[in-house]
Amino acid sequence: MTLDREATRAGYDAIAGAYAEHFRDELAGSPLDRAVLGAFAEIVDGEVLEVGSGPGGVAAHLHGLGVRVRGVDLSPAMVELARAEHPAIGFAVGDMAALDVTEASLGGIVAWYSLIHVPTDELPGVLAGVRRALAPGGHLLLGFQVGDDVSHHDEAFGHRVRLDFRRLRPDAVAALLDAAGFDVTARVVRAPEPTSRAAPMPQAALLARRR
Ligand SMILES: C[S@@+](CC[C@H](N)C(=O)[O-])C[C@H]1O[C@@H](n2cnc3c(N)ncnc32)[C@H](O)[C@@H]1O
Repeated sequence: MTLDREATRAGYDAIAGAYAEHFRDELAGSPLDRAVLGAFAEIVDGEVLEVGSGPGGVAAHLHGLGVRVRGVDLSPAMVELARAEHPAIGFAVGDMAALDVTEASLGGIVAWYSLIHVPTDELPGVLAGVRRALAPGGHLLLGFQVGDDVSHHDEAFGHRVRLDFRRLRPDAVAALLDAAGFDVTARVVRAPEPTSRAAPMPQAALLARRR
């Protein structure tokens, strides 16, 4: 495992409980995010994997919409939490850069605020792996903060961490998706919700389909 990945895993292990509490109501406060997830739930066919599923709230939301979903996350503490909170859903420890998934077996993949932890030079490789896991025509949904910078945190929720949050440009992500063999089918860029506890900046959701 790379140093960067090790730091991300250790960081989320340290803050898992506090993170889950702090961001518990994010989806409830974002009608547009729920609309995008709802559209994804309607169009997707087959099993869905959420990569970087954290405490499991997004997977649980999709499950509630009738989606057959499971989650993988780098952080064992996050996986433990997600399993405890959502026992009806399968969660496992895993790295989105090395998916343990049969080729072309998934109807959909969601990376909701998790691709933001992947170093930029690794994004093409991660998207190639995601494409391999999806059946032709399978859907990919990405959520991320819009911007150009990397926000580095040495401290979070009272813990010493080493976490990088990479803001991304929808155009740049769309170009990477195209190069990786996806057709981008929707882009939603929204203002931060007034009730959100996340850093206030524009938020993006991109939907894409494996060619
Ligand atoms: C900002 S949280 C988002 C969690 C969840 N998707 C949500 O929206 O509540 C990012 C999550 O991605 C996970 N993560 C980061 N890099 C990952 C990787 N390479 N593979 C799998 N999970 C990863 C972290 O452990 C963390 O739980």
